[in-house]
Amino acid sequence: MIIAQISDSHLTLNPPDSDRRIRDFTLTIADINTLEPAPDVIVHTGDIVHNGHQDEYAQAVATLSKACSPVYVLAGNKDNRRNLHAAFSANGYLSPDSECIDYAIDDFPVKLIALDTLSSQGNKGDFSPEQAGHLIDLIDAGPKKPIAVFTHHPPFEVTVGPDRFHFETPEKMLRLRNALQHSGRVIAVFSGHVHRAAEGHIGRIPAMVVPCIATTLRRGDYPPDMRMRPVYQVHRFDPAWGFSTETRIVGERPAVP
Ligand SMILES: [Fe+2]
Repeated sequence: MIIAQISDSHLTLNPPDSDRRIRDFTLTIADINTLEPAPDVIVHTGDIVHNGHQDEYAQAVATLSKACSPVYVLAGNKDNRRNLHAAFSANGYLSPDSECIDYAIDDFPVKLIALDTLSSQGNKGDFSPEQAGHLIDLIDAGPKKPIAVFTHHPPFEVTVGPDRFHFETPEKMLRLRNALQHSGRVIAVFSGHVHRAAEGHIGRIPAMVVPCIATTLRRGDYPPDMRMRPVYQVHRFDPAWGFSTETRIVGERPAVP
C-alpha cells in the first residue's frame, strides 16, 4: 500500500500569497500524479486553507480534483470545520452527523484513522476524553490489521525548532499518546503542522512530521535552489517491514508522466 502525504497548503485567495500557494499545491498534485505505481491514497494532514473561507475551500477542492488517487483530508488549526465539512462532504467519508473530522478508512491492507485535533481556543492541539474513547473504538473495530494514524498536531516532542509541544496541555497529548498505544495495532503516526521535517515516537510507534507544501511557510534550512520547490512524503507499506518513507522534492514544472 502506498500513501502520499501532503500537508499545510495554507491556500489563500488574498494577494500577494495567493498565486504562490495555488502554484505549490498544483505542482504537488501534478508530481503525485507521475508516481509509478500510483499511490492508493493521498492524505492531506490539515491547514488546507489559511483563513477557513468557503472560497478557499472551493479552490482546494478544484486543485485536489486533479489528483488521480482518492484524497482524504484532515482539519488543521487554520481550517474551519464547518466549511471544510461542507466542501468535502460529497466524498462520503465524513460523518454527516458530526462536524468532527474523525474517521477510519478500512478499504486497504492498512487501516487509516484520521483524527481531529483542532481546538476552538487557539493554534495548539486539543484531544478530549470522548475522542480518546472514539479512537479506541476505531482501533478495535473490524478485522485485525495494521493501522496508520494521521493527525495535524504531532503527538510527540518536536526537538527541532522553537516550540517543542504542539498540544494545549501535556495531559491532552498524553491522552492521545495513551489511546494510540491501545492494542498495539497502530504501527505509524503521520502529522503536519510544524512546517518542517521531524521524527519521534509514541512508545514504540514511530511518528513523523511532513514539511509543509507551502514553500513560503516552510521552516528549516534548505538550499537556495529549493526555494520554489514543495516537499511531500510517500509512505510505502510492506507487510514484513512496515512503512518506509520517501521525501519527494517537487520540480519547478510538472513532470511528464
Ligand atoms: Fe500550518
